[in-house]
Amino acid sequence: MARTRISSSKLATLAIALSAIFQATAAQTTDVVGDELGWLVPPGGPLAYATWAAMQTFTVGDVLIFNFTTGDQDVARVTKEAYETCNSTNPDVTYVIGPANFTLDSVGEYFFIGTMDRRCTLGQKLAINVSASSSGTANPPSTGTSPVSEGPSGSALPLCKGSCTVLIHT
Ligand SMILES: *[C@@H]1O[C@H](CO)[C@@H](O)[C@H](O)[C@H]1NC(C)=O
Ligand SMILES: *[C@@H]1O[C@H](CO)[C@@H](O)[C@H](O)[C@H]1NC(C)=O
Ligand SMILES: *[C@@H]1O[C@H](CO)[C@@H](O)[C@H](O)[C@H]1NC(C)=O
Ligand SMILES: *[C@@H]1O[C@H](CO)[C@@H](O)[C@H](O)[C@H]1NC(C)=O
Repeated sequence: MARTRISSSKLATLAIALSAIFQATAAQTTDVVGDELGWLVPPGGPLAYATWAAMQTFTVGDVLIFNFTTGDQDVARVTKEAYETCNSTNPDVTYVIGPANFTLDSVGEYFFIGTMDRRCTLGQKLAINVSASSSGTANPPSTGTSPVSEGPSGSALPLCKGSCTVLIHT
């Protein structure tokens, strides 16, 4: 009986650890810029990516995926001024290998353009606002959800029946 109780508590610890991992994974989202359209000169002109961005919520830690074919497109992070004038003279960083992942690591505005030919002028440009991550702020979460009490712990325990002892001793 004592042995069973130790196993249960260790399992509970394991379940909580696993759920923490799942939560950490879920907190970061990836956004494929333009969804199925990918990253190119959009048929609808500059409105295409503005419309897409307006439908998204970007938080610190999210990853943008610029899905393009290497050699056909590129993507550069630029200043607001360079974005507005499609000036690709001095970008912060340029990615020439597609698809390119870009991690949004701070709060604020981000501006991206395609630097090849006249692609930016034709609409290959993206401006977004990134807000603080909901779980990483100094304020305690007022509407905090607590998925720890459900999910992994509820589903993991029944799976361990019979093999729990082996699992713990390894
Ligand atoms: C990128 O685009 C290609 C071609 O359209 C598509 O097959 C692939 O699934 C896309 N990748 C992502 C991450 O959306
Ligand atoms: C483009 O940006 C560069 C570097 O910031 C600047 O020197 C140049 O004057 C800009 N060109 C135009 C047309 O604004
Ligand atoms: C970019 O992110 C996608 C989705 O998370 C991932 O599958 C891919 O391996 C990443 N690519 C690079 C180069 O990190
Ligand atoms: C970001 O948000 C600020 C404040 O709401 C706004 O003035 C600005 O135009 C936004 N920038 C972009 C790129 O959406």
